[in-house]
Amino acid sequence: MIVTRRPLIAGNWKMNGLSGDGLALAGELARRIEDAADPAFDLLICPPFTLISRIGEALAGSAIALGGQDCHAVETGAHTGDISAAMLADSGCTHVIVGHSERRADHAETDTQVSAKVAAVRSAGLVAVLCIGETEAQRDAGETNAVVARQLADSLPDGATAMNTVIAYEPVWAIGTGRTPSVAEVEAVHALIRGDLAKRLGDDEAARLRLLYGGSVKPDNARELMSLADVDGALVGGASLKADDFWSIAQSSA
Ligand code: 13P
Repeated sequence: MIVTRRPLIAGNWKMNGLSGDGLALAGELARRIEDAADPAFDLLICPPFTLISRIGEALAGSAIALGGQDCHAVETGAHTGDISAAMLADSGCTHVIVGHSERRADHAETDTQVSAKVAAVRSAGLVAVLCIGETEAQRDAGETNAVVARQLADSLPDGATAMNTVIAYEPVWAIGTGRTPSVAEVEAVHALIRGDLAKRLGDDEAARLRLLYGGSVKPDNARELMSLADVDGALVGGASLKADDFWSIAQSSA
């Protein structure tokens, strides 16, 4: 079966953006995608929780999708400071990033907790963007494949489909550092992920599911990374905060 996967370029704004610059950035991207008429990629932006509703209103009618950066595993209740997937859906989101390495590191999130969050995202009818990736120490110890395979096995609950799941491979040591794996390394890890998905979901579903690469994706390296067979887009941090850079990365994927 020959499958063409439409690239997804996702911007993870992390803890950046007040209303002025955040709304301006979203507005500028909305203008560009409208002018592009028929772009060959999908765009997703994941602003901080505080801006989601307002950006959602500003993007109404736009082709840009909106996502949260995390959610709680349950729908409502006594969880001070947390946000549920249902709340994100209610605010206009269609996607939620789950298991980002900064959540795993800063909030000690385990694969089991991440798996419960993915399930919550699905229950709310949203798409989970599940992040996996090795640390530098794990890489140096030759454990990259084992870590990625284990995180995929333990943090992706059964029932994944190309419609409810996107996987983002983000080597922790490449995030915000300006360093990236070689294209051969990215290719190998993405092929491993695709292969593991095929065993769990079947060849056809695995072939449809989008695999993003994240970690220091910039305009000058995006074309090479996005051209790899099993790389179907990017999860972009720092460069997603500049309209020119994010747009340039998106165009490189087409
Ligand atoms: P950078 O693009 O800033 O390296 O961040 C990547 C990332 O963590 C996206 O989720």
